[in-house]
Amino acid sequence: PYPVYTRLREEEPVHRTVMGAWVITRYADVKVLLRDNTFGVFDIPTRIERKSQFLERNKTGELRTLAQAMRRWLMLCDPPDHTRLRGLVNRSFTPSAVEALRPRVQEMVDQLIARVRDTGKMEIVGELACPLAVTMIASMLGVPEEAHASVTRWADGLSRVLDPLRSLEQYAEMNRVAQEFLEYFRQLFAERRRNPQNDLISSLIAVTDQGDKLTEDEMLSVCMLLFIAGEKTTVNLISNGVLALLRHRDEFERLKQDPALIRGAIDEILRYDSPVQLNTRVPKKDFTLHGKTIPAGDLIYFSLGSANRDPSQFPDPDKFDITRKENRHLAFSGGIHYCLGAALALIEGQLAISTLAREFPKMELVPGTIDWQKEIIFRGPQTLPVLLNP
Ligand code: HEM
Repeated sequence: PYPVYTRLREEEPVHRTVMGAWVITRYADVKVLLRDNTFGVFDIPTRIERKSQFLERNKTGELRTLAQAMRRWLMLCDPPDHTRLRGLVNRSFTPSAVEALRPRVQEMVDQLIARVRDTGKMEIVGELACPLAVTMIASMLGVPEEAHASVTRWADGLSRVLDPLRSLEQYAEMNRVAQEFLEYFRQLFAERRRNPQNDLISSLIAVTDQGDKLTEDEMLSVCMLLFIAGEKTTVNLISNGVLALLRHRDEFERLKQDPALIRGAIDEILRYDSPVQLNTRVPKKDFTLHGKTIPAGDLIYFSLGSANRDPSQFPDPDKFDITRKENRHLAFSGGIHYCLGAALALIEGQLAISTLAREFPKMELVPGTIDWQKEIIFRGPQTLPVLLNP
């Protein structure tokens, strides 16, 4: 259970935090407001740039590379930029395009399991979920294998950039990582221009060369965004899923007996412990809800995690039930920013978890307390060690 969410939903569904931001927690409100185009995105790049001025005055660095790359991230863009950029990548992420990746995902899951099989143990986050999520994005883009380790390091280094609780030093470090990332991808783009392949980078180049308005900087931004948006999220889906199933043994048994239940199980995992707990928006004009007026320009958090546990939408919301009916969760958000990678994440979650269940039916958690990631956007364990054949 999430007791703070329960209290907020019941007592103060529009809550103002001590920092002056607003939190909206009821399913019905979040669902409607996600589709309301009088809300825009929160301008994180400008805030980062303001911090940058401080670093520059003190001659200790700058954050401009990071801020400029972020300015073109879909989830930080409003229309018309959003519409244009999203149109260009959408076709690579449609369910049918992504379905073609299923064999590659399975192959990767099998390889990662094979590496640790003999040890009888696996650390789900570091040994399965992370390498799977990063490798799939890297292979879609066409990053050669020998660079996967560097790309994983960069993706990890940048993965917390949307968390509002970052210090100046952390931003400075992320800026350095962004510079390395962009430098590498710039070379890769040049190489693909000379020598196109059947990959996402080559198709972004082709789109641009046909006269669509996508600059090289925007293409580089898209590449960076995919790692930011697709890594920790998918990792949390897989590790929260393993955790929930091993803590609810009866549900794990049902899944093993009927592997076709995996689709519903993944949706229930996404609802039960949503990998992304909140997203941010800013109203373009003053706006009143449940008797409170939120001024234009204020920061609002939509709590997806709370909406997904709202009893008015989900009967017995704290029950983990892999055959839950009408599970219309908001884990992938809604409206124009609905998750671009949802179809890919579903396939990765399904194959990772069903393969583990099939091959290690007696799998157990290593006893001990769960070390959760310390932040407010993402929800998932820092590490999750399991015994494969206890
Ligand atoms: C957007 C969740 C996996 C790419 C979003 C948003 C959420 C989300 C909540 C909306 C943000 C907002 O409304 O402000 C998740 C979850 C995932 C997942 C829970 C895994 C279980 C992925 C993957 C990719 C991806 C694998 C790509 C490889 C994106 C992109 C956006 C996005 C590009 C921005 C879309 C836009 O603003 O138009 N995701 N995501 N996501 N996601 Fe995912």
